[in-house]
Amino acid sequence: MAERILTGIKPTGQLTLGNYIGVLKNLHKETSRGDCFYFIADLHALTLPIDPEVLRQNSIDLACFYLAAGLDPDKVTLFLQSEVSAHAEMNAIMQNYLYMGELSRMTQFKDKSAKMNESAIGLGLFAYPVLMASDIILYDASIVPVGEDQKQHVELCRDLVNRFNNRYGDILTMPKPEMRKVGARIMSLSDPTKKMSKSDPKGDIFLKDDLATIRKKIMSAVTDSGSEVKYDVENKPGISNLLTIYASLKDISIEEAEKQFEGYRYGDFKKAVADLVCEEMEAFQKKYREILESKAYIEALRKGARRANEVAQKTLKRVKNAVGLLTVE
Ligand code: TYM
Repeated sequence: MAERILTGIKPTGQLTLGNYIGVLKNLHKETSRGDCFYFIADLHALTLPIDPEVLRQNSIDLACFYLAAGLDPDKVTLFLQSEVSAHAEMNAIMQNYLYMGELSRMTQFKDKSAKMNESAIGLGLFAYPVLMASDIILYDASIVPVGEDQKQHVELCRDLVNRFNNRYGDILTMPKPEMRKVGARIMSLSDPTKKMSKSDPKGDIFLKDDLATIRKKIMSAVTDSGSEVKYDVENKPGISNLLTIYASLKDISIEEAEKQFEGYRYGDFKKAVADLVCEEMEAFQKKYREILESKAYIEALRKGARRANEVAQKTLKRVKNAVGLLTVE
């Protein structure tokens, strides 16, 4: 069987340059390595309150973003998580093999729940990694391309696979998180010690921002004292982040990017980064608009759901059988 590669993106908020660089930009390259399953993690989007119409629109946007990033729906399986009911069924089984202790240690849960009143934290937010592990397991994925912030969840899925297989035999495939060498954690432009996230309009570049806004955000990015363009996360987090953005978009190493900007002043360096980001976003947004207008995403998602259901049902059967659920078909 060809190696399976899987990843998902949540349709909450607007996608950022962090999502683009961390995963989206490179997903099309994975098609030469194996059988790719990419999905819209809409069930995950329900773990925090979201307006139904916003969720629907975000899901359409995300489908178009995947396609605008160069994915060919004939070569990858692109689908909506909620259209494959096996995710919810696998989740119902797998929630018995992950424990409260390990779930409460997840950084994302701690961050998101810190600002909430404990009595109002949804069970779905707490159990988020169970559903995510179910997503991965369902497709026997061995490679999971993610940004750094999702690594812990994939590691937890690995623990689950070990636990399950020790008990029932060799049933589940062991996944591995894969992160980009450069660009696995893009930071906020207004506070480069914080991750660029979908919820900080000042420090984030959104994939739907117009080019003038993108340029302005980069030109006013927080930089550091000193004047040398050098990669030094401790002392120059702002400059290091911009170097990372530049190097990852150009597909070069940080050292090569540093060399390119030797002797540059901060202002000229920022202008070069802004030029590059704008150039990339201009082409990307054009494709996004074409796909949105042509509605090509609908057929792609329909086809994807059919294939995803076929594959997921097989794994679900195997797991049901392993744990002792009786089938009479
Ligand atoms: P989500 O929607 O938060 O983010 C989508 C992907 O973008 C990466 N990412 C970043 N990469 C670099 N720099 C950043 N600042 C940055 N911000 C986000 C994320 O690491 C992620 O890879 N739980 C997942 C969705 C999911 C999933 C899955 C992923 C659901 N099931 C199964 C893989 C496998 C999430 O919320 O990603």
